[in-house]
Amino acid sequence: MTFKLRALSLIIFAASGLAVQPTFFVPQRVASFSKEDFGQSDGKKVELYTLTNRNGVEAKITTYGGIVVSLKVPDKQGKLSDIVLGYDNLEGYLQDTSYFGALIGRYGNRIAKGRFKLNGTEYKLATNNGENHLHGGVKGFDKVVWNGRAAKTTNGVRLTLTYQSHDMEEGYPGNLFVTVAYTLTNANELRIDYSATTDKDTIVNLTHHSYFNLAGEGNGDILKHQLMINASRFTPVDPGLIPTGELRNVKGTPFDFLQPTPIGSRIDTEDEQLKIGRGYDHNFVINGPSGVLRKAASVSEETTGRVMEVWTTEPGMQFYTGNFLSGKPGKGGKPYQFRYGFCLETQHYPDSPNHLLFPTTVLKKGARYQSTTIYRFSSR
Ligand code: GLA
Repeated sequence: MTFKLRALSLIIFAASGLAVQPTFFVPQRVASFSKEDFGQSDGKKVELYTLTNRNGVEAKITTYGGIVVSLKVPDKQGKLSDIVLGYDNLEGYLQDTSYFGALIGRYGNRIAKGRFKLNGTEYKLATNNGENHLHGGVKGFDKVVWNGRAAKTTNGVRLTLTYQSHDMEEGYPGNLFVTVAYTLTNANELRIDYSATTDKDTIVNLTHHSYFNLAGEGNGDILKHQLMINASRFTPVDPGLIPTGELRNVKGTPFDFLQPTPIGSRIDTEDEQLKIGRGYDHNFVINGPSGVLRKAASVSEETTGRVMEVWTTEPGMQFYTGNFLSGKPGKGGKPYQFRYGFCLETQHYPDSPNHLLFPTTVLKKGARYQSTTIYRFSSR
């Protein structure tokens, strides 16, 4: 066939395709992923994955700390905005002290004086929050490089991260083999499935530490967001933010979010617990059986119409209103002021290893730790 003939037959083929199937050239959106270099930490290559679902919702997640670097979800007009606080580059995260977007382990939140007993042995963990242990210690799971692998799933796209924490890392017994799968579903959910096994009895309590602002990151404080928390009780704390052991009824207190209430409506009232936390920084006892996926919270922002629901298998959830933020610049140099983001960290209660009446965080050798949390986005 001469070149001319071949070209002609191609044109005829394309034209016939057009005539029979007019949608042939209309791009169909499918969930996809890509990866790029994000720099280096500990001499290891750090990657940045971009997950996009078929609606164009996009999550950027780095293998450094399993950090959700950006999360773009639509408002009521369909406009996508990034609704998580963070930085433009890895350097920002290497310097970070706020745990923006990070995976937290081995233990989310505080363990008093960094001490706990297991099988009769006392363990001494790294202390990095005054005399207490916070969020896994000096170098928690938020500061290590994970292995990443992305794949399409039947209903979206998934990044699976794995990390092996060695025996006595930050003071914890046992080698811990951790897998965290972030799935961005076509139903506009960011689903997090955590699992872990150990070769020695240990304790585990993993969580995720995104700071949300449904009006868009850096776009003011979060005090007007309406929040519902499905919790009739919370765990009051001592001045070091360690639970006293009491499970207190929220009725008649500023901790009652059973009905949707603006986050800021009671945050500055004379309340001993709010004073200690400089706002909300408390674990709520989620109603319903733990181990079963149930709604823990729902948040909405009026100007954009964005709604976020949190579903979890965990017994508790830390509600934190960014009370330690103080204007340090984040993405695009925007200052992240006091209360510019809120966290809903699904978890077992803080300091559980020292409160035998709290649900246990012990992981036995040979057993499997499993936990699921879903952040679901919509608009109205
Ligand atoms: C958690 C803690 C807070 C604070 C933040 C990180 O939410 O409960 O006290 O440490 O993490 O700044």
